[in-house]
Amino acid sequence: MRKNIVAGNWKMNLDRNQGIFLLHDVLERLSVSNKTEVVFAPSFIHLYKASKICKSINNVFIASQDCSVNTKGAFTGEVSAEMIASCGAKYVILGHSERRVNFNEKNDLLRRKVDHALVNNLEVIFCCGESLDQRESGVYFEWIKKQISESLFGLSAVDFTKIVIAYEPVWAIGTGVTASSNQAQEIHGFIRKTIEERYGRKIAQSTSILYGGSCNPSNASELFSQKDIDGGLIGGSSLNADDFVSIVNSF
Ligand code: PGA
Repeated sequence: MRKNIVAGNWKMNLDRNQGIFLLHDVLERLSVSNKTEVVFAPSFIHLYKASKICKSINNVFIASQDCSVNTKGAFTGEVSAEMIASCGAKYVILGHSERRVNFNEKNDLLRRKVDHALVNNLEVIFCCGESLDQRESGVYFEWIKKQISESLFGLSAVDFTKIVIAYEPVWAIGTGVTASSNQAQEIHGFIRKTIEERYGRKIAQSTSILYGGSCNPSNASELFSQKDIDGGLIGGSSLNADDFVSIVNSF
């Protein structure tokens, strides 16, 4: 059975005190019997402390929002997958549209980042999704297939089991416009079928596929009730403890 996951992507928000405060605030409100995996993706400055705080808490993990494509050396300002793993993170988010668009990250670079992450025992939350133009011109199925296949389909079946997919239509991120549950389910079903064609039914059925893009407490249950939606990657609403916990409780 595949896991349900709700991951909070804090992006470049919250200084040290604010981040740790929010983390404790969410943890206090989470039900102890919570069956959904909860992931916090803070900025690098929080990784070590946040991992320590979450270490003994059932089903709660830390993710980094990115990692370097390089392993070590003269790359000022970069943080390697090995360093992130040494802080106690379980996951790294790769291919977020803000990195693809603002930092020109292409499928091939992401493929190399995925490899570094896996070598360092990090699991990957791999983002894909189309722009508004691509949606309107109807090329989004091909686009998403290309993003996934070029960055991930060189992986062995064993390595692919360390991948979580996040479908995040770019037009829904931070805009307040959410994909309808039908639109999201259509793509999630397509992604699962694409995985099945490459890795077979068993792996496709056990891969968690998250939805991201203006997911909030009022639309989460409808989205999460779709058969191929296994949770969410949450931006804005992850910065508010009540909203985030309410999304976690939406299954
Ligand atoms: P949003 O962001 O929930 O603020 O739309 C989602 C994301 O970028 O992961």
